[in-house]
Amino acid sequence: MTTANNQASTSFPVRRMDYEFDDMPKYWCDNEPSLTHYFTGLSTLFPEGESYFVRSVRALRPRAKANKQLDRDIGAFIGQEAMHSKEHHAFHVSAQKYDLDPESLERVTGTVLKGIESLFPEKWNLLVTVGLEHYTAVLVTTMMRSTHTYMKDETIRNLWLWHSIEETEHKAVAFDLYQYLYGEGLTAYVPRVAIFTLSLALITTLSTAYHIVLMKRDGQLFNLKTWRRFAAFARQHYKIFIPQFLDYYRTDFHPNDVDESDLVARTREMIGLGGEAAQATH
Ligand SMILES: [Fe+2]
Ligand SMILES: [Fe+2]
Repeated sequence: MTTANNQASTSFPVRRMDYEFDDMPKYWCDNEPSLTHYFTGLSTLFPEGESYFVRSVRALRPRAKANKQLDRDIGAFIGQEAMHSKEHHAFHVSAQKYDLDPESLERVTGTVLKGIESLFPEKWNLLVTVGLEHYTAVLVTTMMRSTHTYMKDETIRNLWLWHSIEETEHKAVAFDLYQYLYGEGLTAYVPRVAIFTLSLALITTLSTAYHIVLMKRDGQLFNLKTWRRFAAFARQHYKIFIPQFLDYYRTDFHPNDVDESDLVARTREMIGLGGEAAQATH
């Protein structure tokens, strides 16, 4: 398999996963309600969010058919995101037993995104995807470096790490489609950063709201001890995230400016994907 930073020959696999979450403990992230519900809240954005990403890319794919490499990568991007939606949804279904009803938050995400999709032109919908792919690419690097160590349940840890690997593999696809269609000049740059700013505000608002809703449903809303733990976690991580989010505002930004191939290789080993063969996908 080649990794996404080798742009000339990029082709990454679509892995068929089927995790079983039956034995997942209630507080699967460091035995902390606040950390568990933060990540569950983020996860409830994925099934509908990634379906929206797929639709936004698919809508413009016919205009990039002449670029065979890009078209192949778009095919693999769609396959990976569809699998992420499926597996995160399976995780939410299994979490229904704890009366947290994460599926209801998926439905809210779907309603919000369908509203945005109907209002925005195709270019802007693609830009939401491009921006949130960068947001995700930043978060998953820390997940692969350190955050996974908080996840004591192996199945849920592997779900997040597999997702992190693939987000890194396909992080440039939507961006490359955008540049291919709209170029690199000021008329491409201004909407790119404007929609990114909006998208960051949207995802921060939704994930914060979902975090609070899940804490309330679990009767933990006033558990100050666990909130303090989350505050320390957030402080430590946002110090890392913010400069990387800001990279996106550079006029010459490209997702492959940062090469995480060693980290991805180590993470693949960690979750038993180290020996996989290259699988070209279309
Ligand atoms: Fe994904
Ligand atoms: Fe993605």
